[in-house]
Amino acid sequence: MRRPMVAGNWKMHGTCASVAELIGGLKQQSLPADVDVAVFPSALHLAQAVSGFAGAVAVGAQNCAYEPQQGALTGEVAAIQLLDAGCSLVLVGHSERRLLLGESDELVVRKFAAAQSVGLTPVLCVGETLAQREAGETLAVVAEQVAAVIEALGVKVFANALVAYEPVWAIGTGLTASPEQAQQVHEAIRAQFARLDASLAGELRILYGGSVKAASAAELFGMPDIDGGLVGGASLNADDFGAICRAAGS
Ligand code: 13P
Repeated sequence: MRRPMVAGNWKMHGTCASVAELIGGLKQQSLPADVDVAVFPSALHLAQAVSGFAGAVAVGAQNCAYEPQQGALTGEVAAIQLLDAGCSLVLVGHSERRLLLGESDELVVRKFAAAQSVGLTPVLCVGETLAQREAGETLAVVAEQVAAVIEALGVKVFANALVAYEPVWAIGTGLTASPEQAQQVHEAIRAQFARLDASLAGELRILYGGSVKAASAAELFGMPDIDGGLVGGASLNADDFGAICRAAGS
């Protein structure tokens, strides 16, 4: 039985004051005991979130350097520094980084490996653009993004990782993939793993992201291969995020 996770990706949002308010608001929420809840604040607000939640909610980073250890890499944050700051998770390959910042599969693989080498759990984000979906390439694109990591690092690395399927056309647009559209891709991702390692595939948590709202969450999370969500905009509102977390509970 896979334990659901609901994670909030705060992206490039927040000030010290608004983050304090959001943490305070989330601590007022009754969060389900059978769901892992995590937040991904900006690097600047990681320490604030780690101390504010004091372990009640897991904290992860939105990115890490491709080198795991400290060194001369101006502007980057090493996985070991994230671990030291109290993070347990890190997003790798978010589409905003792939598409707007030019991150290649090769770089995503290096970041994934860097994260795991220090004991952080990577959340590998994959997803197709609208043009790719319209061209019928969705499953191929997603399979290739997943395969890049499997081919470089082996399938076993996913025993300590999650996958997040985030169709680019559904991110921040208010367009959610229908539960059936999302399930089709999640099922294909799990089948890709199952061909290599059936028991790992059965345990792998695959989150859905892309305009998840309180109103749409329960139906999405009810699909057999959707194990929770990676929530952007709605995670900036404590009541909405709390409701989405509860939708993943039993
Ligand atoms: P939205 O929920 O704002 O569409 O963002 C999804 C996302 O990119 C989470 O990583």
